[in-house]
Amino acid sequence: MNRTTVLLLFGGESSEHDISLSSARNVYAAIDDSKYEVNLGYIDRSGNWWLLESLDDESLQSTLQIIPVLGSGVFVTLPHGQTLKPDVILPILHGKNGEDGSVQGLAQLLHIPIVGCDMFSSSISMDKVATKQILDANDIRTAPYVVHRSYEAQPDFSRLSVQLGVPMFVKPSRSGSSVGVSKVHSEQELVEAVSLAHAHDDTILIERGIAGRELEVAVLGNPPHHKTSGVGEIKPGDAFYSYDDKYASDSTSQAIISADLDESTKQKIKHEAAKIYAILGCKGLARIDFFLADDDTLYLNEVNTLPGFTNISMYPKLWRAEGISYSQLIDTLIQLAISDTIE
Ligand SMILES: Nc1ncnc2c1ncn2[C@@H]1O[C@H](COP(=O)(O)OP(=O)(O)O)[C@@H](O)[C@H]1O
Ligand SMILES: [Mg+2]
Repeated sequence: MNRTTVLLLFGGESSEHDISLSSARNVYAAIDDSKYEVNLGYIDRSGNWWLLESLDDESLQSTLQIIPVLGSGVFVTLPHGQTLKPDVILPILHGKNGEDGSVQGLAQLLHIPIVGCDMFSSSISMDKVATKQILDANDIRTAPYVVHRSYEAQPDFSRLSVQLGVPMFVKPSRSGSSVGVSKVHSEQELVEAVSLAHAHDDTILIERGIAGRELEVAVLGNPPHHKTSGVGEIKPGDAFYSYDDKYASDSTSQAIISADLDESTKQKIKHEAAKIYAILGCKGLARIDFFLADDDTLYLNEVNTLPGFTNISMYPKLWRAEGISYSQLIDTLIQLAISDTIE
């Protein structure tokens, strides 16, 4: 049987480069190599694309660059000019120039199927302000917020505290892994938080802090045949689920695979996740994150179209709990991309 050729893309220009590497190592180890031949496409921090021989070498050095040939379904290597014709691209990338629709758009121009969401749903989901606007228009509740752009005057703390309450959260519209996110209680903290968030994005949002629980649902499939996992819960160890709280070895945060909720609340959250996935036009996969406030109001927090695949990541764990192993999950994602491609 001919194996399917997969171009596994990882690394990338975003602040989540290292998370991507860790996810890609897991995917590479788990993929069924009797069925798939994997080419390793490493995107360095400057955005150059390289073909790697292996993922063992920490330095990730290569002398072969890969260059897309638009419209032809191939990449050529530099300097040798060999062609690489993947049947499918598997992007294990997070953030800017990876999860934001850019690589998905490139795949579309190349005429190569790509695992996961297309250009449009990736870019909308990456952008927290755009996600909120689309969901607001569809009567899906998200936390009250204001948008701030880098060319505008410093936002007024007392006015915001009346409008949103205290604490508030300040975050870049397009970021991830909590990079650039702050919890704000005072005018001074707001000044610092706005400047930090703007270091990552010209557009930021200032949001009401929701006191409650953080719940996550994995979605898999192409609508209308998408399915939802059980409801997982994050219990942050820090003041919120910060970068260190997510990834540091001494983090005290907990990822609970089956949140302690009554059955009707679980069903409501799963139903909401499936609905949001369809509204945003998602395909393949996404992890949909919610806040369940202390007064039981459910808020969509964000949609991750390329959720983490590290050892500790919630997305594969949620499917594991449903009886889908890590390698079956990758197999399903690849098949979903191949059988329903962008023409
Ligand atoms: N409005 C909010 N209310 C309460 N906590 C929040 C709010 N916004 C963000 N957080 C906290 O910050 C973390 C990171 O924010 P999030 O919006 O999920 O950004 P990212 O895309 O970086 O993960 C969340 O997991 C949560 O702990
Ligand atoms: Mg998040």
